[in-house]
Amino acid sequence: MSRNDKVVISCQNVWKIFGDRPKVVWDLLKEGATRQEIIEQTGQVTAVKDVSFDVRENEIFVIMGLSGSGKSTLLRCINRLIEPDTGKIFIQGEDITRMNRAALRKLRRHQLSMVFQHFGLLPHRSVLDNVAFGLEIRGDSKKQRQAKSMEALELVGLHGWENSRLHELSGGMQQRVGLARALVVDSEILLMDEPFSALDPLIRRQLQDEFIKLRSAVKKTVVFVTHDLFEALKLGDRIAIMKDGEIIQLGSPQEIVSQPFDDYVSEFVRDVPKAKIFSAETIMEEPEVVIWGGFDSELAIKEMTAKKALVAFITDSRGELKGVVTIKQALEAVKRGPGKLEEIAQEEFPSTSPDSPLEDSLHFIAEGDIPVAVLDGRRHLLGVITRKALISAMKPEKPNSNVKVPPEDNASLIHNEKS
Ligand SMILES: Nc1ncnc2c1ncn2[C@@H]1O[C@H](COP(=O)(O)OP(=O)(O)OP(=O)(O)O)[C@@H](O)[C@H]1O
Ligand SMILES: [Mg+2]
Repeated sequence: MSRNDKVVISCQNVWKIFGDRPKVVWDLLKEGATRQEIIEQTGQVTAVKDVSFDVRENEIFVIMGLSGSGKSTLLRCINRLIEPDTGKIFIQGEDITRMNRAALRKLRRHQLSMVFQHFGLLPHRSVLDNVAFGLEIRGDSKKQRQAKSMEALELVGLHGWENSRLHELSGGMQQRVGLARALVVDSEILLMDEPFSALDPLIRRQLQDEFIKLRSAVKKTVVFVTHDLFEALKLGDRIAIMKDGEIIQLGSPQEIVSQPFDDYVSEFVRDVPKAKIFSAETIMEEPEVVIWGGFDSELAIKEMTAKKALVAFITDSRGELKGVVTIKQALEAVKRGPGKLEEIAQEEFPSTSPDSPLEDSLHFIAEGDIPVAVLDGRRHLLGVITRKALISAMKPEKPNSNVKVPPEDNASLIHNEKS
């Protein structure tokens, strides 16, 4: 992802309670009742509970969680297909919870598009008409609709199917139609609710790959809901994990995998092959001793002794890494007489690139004691991977815990009270 901190969507303390007596729920929450207790006592569901997060421009922000954790509800609050009870939702800086119907309609037609969990298509219409649907309600001319829809169908690999009826298509193809329908609107923001989960694993993987490719061509900010961790790790720049209506953890794929917040998250990430997920740069450390090869071996011994390091990295005058010298090699060399480091440096040493997965470094660490050098394209030393760092990256840290309480100001929630 190209680093970009511009916030496109901002959800702030969003709550959604399903039922006709939210006030009762509010009181129970203040008394510390759990979501399950509230359901049992009142039949009301706290679907989204005090959720806050920002989505940055062009990122894929994944919302993940078990069935019923509130993912779809939260996503639908972002375009107000579901009215949040309280909280603020900003799209491009504008609070959409205050928008009137006309403004909201405009927002949905131009700025946001959505791919629904169960396709949400019109079965009796042709493929082309399904794709063009959003443009039609927006009032685009027929010619424009056709041209744009054909382009979108091309993008999702359905060229030639435009005149087929929807029910003639397989599930995977129907999902592509759903995707084309969202893309055709050319909105900046794409909301996707489990777009691939109804598909079998092979088609699903294929569509994920195509989606990744598509996104490098068509820049968009995406909020992507899934209950599949591998999909989340593959697509997400950041992942929010939902449990019982709350976001209990938000972080990069590596953070989620290496530091699961609690047992719920641990359970999700337990079987993740961490060596495939983490790249070298995520765990590399500052090398302890880096010395120009023109210096004397004595100096390397001094530095290594002072820093209790076993290895010195030797560079040339341009800063390129030329080799490594272990403390043992340096001591032996000095015994033989004075000499420069570049004469004794071993030119074969373990190295990797910053974006290589850790699994590429595992065999080095298994075979020897020399930390793996992480080199950039000019062979400059960016950092090193030590055995200790590699091993600790492989095992998850201990989870902790956290409790959410409702805000004092619940006026906007109470206005929904019906009983
Ligand atoms: N319209 C509704 N009326 C009442 N309760 C609802 C409504 N929609 C959702 N819920 C409840 O809110 C909770 C969250 O539902 P939601 O659909 O957001 O979950 P989800 O994480 O998307 O699940 P799934 O993975 O199954 O799609 C669930 O307990 C659900 O039963
Ligand atoms: Mg859902």
